Amino acid sequence: MTDKITLTGIKPSGTPHIGNYLGMIKPALELAERYQALYFIADYHALTTVKDAATLRRLTYDDAATWLALGLDPKRVIFYRQSDIPEVMELTWVLACFTAKGLLNRAHAYKDAVDENIAAGLSPDEGINAGLFCYPVLMAADILLFGTHFVPVGQDQKQHIEITRDIAQAFNKNYGDVFTLPEAVIQEEVMIIPGLDGRKMSKSYNNVIPMFAPPNQLRKAVMRIVTDSRKPEEPKDPDRDNVFAIYRHFASPEDAARVREKYLKGGLAYSEIKTQLYELLEQKFREARKRYEELMTDWGYLDEVLAYGAEKARKIAVPMMDRVRKAVGID
Ligand code: TRP
Repeated sequence: MTDKITLTGIKPSGTPHIGNYLGMIKPALELAERYQALYFIADYHALTTVKDAATLRRLTYDDAATWLALGLDPKRVIFYRQSDIPEVMELTWVLACFTAKGLLNRAHAYKDAVDENIAAGLSPDEGINAGLFCYPVLMAADILLFGTHFVPVGQDQKQHIEITRDIAQAFNKNYGDVFTLPEAVIQEEVMIIPGLDGRKMSKSYNNVIPMFAPPNQLRKAVMRIVTDSRKPEEPKDPDRDNVFAIYRHFASPEDAARVREKYLKGGLAYSEIKTQLYELLEQKFREARKRYEELMTDWGYLDEVLAYGAEKARKIAVPMMDRVRKAVGID
């Protein structure tokens, strides 16, 4: 364990699925063994899209329960809600004053929304709120407030870390080395987990395998994974099959190697490997599912855990914000 800081935000946008688990939760929990980890629920980020209070509240607890159920230890990981740290908001404004507007014009979430509007013949900024536009600045505040070294994120967030570095550099150039420049940590190998239809597993494609679904639903989801129509006796290509692409992440290396051979040789039915995958997933998430269900009945306990994390997070955030205020001359 070093004193390097690893930090990441979890945007509450829906019950997490196994793509989130492999791409984000698992690597983040592993990093937490080696570094001081700060993991938080990015509820203010979610507000750019989630406009129903009850939904936002439920999604926030859903994420908290998921991470705790999967083994996040709140005594070791500083686990909190973004909105419990007022310094994040304060720093966001300061950083906004060091953010080139053109940089935000080029941020992909905003740019994609503009491109879609233009393609649809609408005015470029139709329906786009300034929260979405400033999203990367809030994210920079999340990261820079804690002297973060490493940020485990998916490929889609890489640009946001680059923007964070640009903002930090602009600030440091003016005031000296106040901010640490963070690095993105991207899991190349598990980046793209296929969903049921073979496209990237994503809530927006409605093709996910939910982690905590009851066994019958889990089985149904796995059975729906799209394969080609090769017969059991025919050789199959493990590198082009959606079932194997998921299976290999959950099986032991020996089992994965053995199944790969069977694919190549022929004699393995897709239904057989799907059953094995279902069993692996059911076993892997059985205990966590029970804990998740319990935690979701006790929001009071989740509040306590998050408040405990916020208290520890503010021990870092408050002195950092003091430094920033002093640096800029507002103290
Ligand atoms: N934007 C991230 C996502 O959509 C969530 C997030 C918010 C984040 N703040 C962060 C991630 C800070 C890493 C660091 O997934």
